[in-house]
Amino acid sequence: MPTLVLLRHGQSQWNLDNRFTGWVDVDITEAGRQEALKAGELMKAEGLRFDFAHTSVLKRAIRTLNTALEVMDQLWVPVEKTWRLNERHYGALQGLDKAETTAKHGEAQVKIWRRSYDVPPPAMDLKDPGHPANDLRYAKLDVKALPGTESLATTLDRVLPYWHDAIAPQLKAQQTVLVTAHGNSLRALYKYLTDVTEAQILEINIPTGIPLLFDLDDALKVKSFRYLGDPDAAKRAAEAVANQAKAGKH
Ligand code: 3PG
Repeated sequence: MPTLVLLRHGQSQWNLDNRFTGWVDVDITEAGRQEALKAGELMKAEGLRFDFAHTSVLKRAIRTLNTALEVMDQLWVPVEKTWRLNERHYGALQGLDKAETTAKHGEAQVKIWRRSYDVPPPAMDLKDPGHPANDLRYAKLDVKALPGTESLATTLDRVLPYWHDAIAPQLKAQQTVLVTAHGNSLRALYKYLTDVTEAQILEINIPTGIPLLFDLDDALKVKSFRYLGDPDAAKRAAEAVANQAKAGKH
């Protein structure tokens, strides 16, 4: 049976600082490393044996993947890193404090930027040193493919070619596949896989470091999915993500 696990990276320094991160290459904290270790334990207890793993080109996801695979004694599993699994680019919001942004623009606007399906945050200028066009790791890519901001919809547009070319064929070959990525690149995949509506995806939050296991049929339709470990803990962690941008929060 094709089995897919989606794993958001463990807590990053900017998750802790409550800043919009997007494509900024922030590392995980010690708490994030502990989450990655726990994710590895949960996947090990589930008896998962991965045939392949995919991750982004951002170190919080790469380190989480390696940490979890090490716990499972599966560091040998082949891994492909791709920019297509990067976090959604947060445009001009990258680096800003989430609660301060809410205090300035209001809760409704920030929820639209964070969770709406097709409204991107304000764009980052191409000349901004933080724009991916100015980052060596993307130098071989067509600059037109590199975003200065992304909505969830445009994130899904660049995740999907990778899904169809790299991930889906492995699943169709009955393999067990791990995708370690980011809150919004995983929300994009979640929307695609579960067919939730644009209104429903607004309320979906993916917690850091908790493996989300999908059992798929041969056509890759979702038969069932669940967070590994304590379901209440996963629910509370997802609620905490939703509340990160509440004004006055730090
Ligand atoms: C970020 O890019 O800031 C986070 O990884 C995801 O943020 P969000 O939960 O505010 O969308």
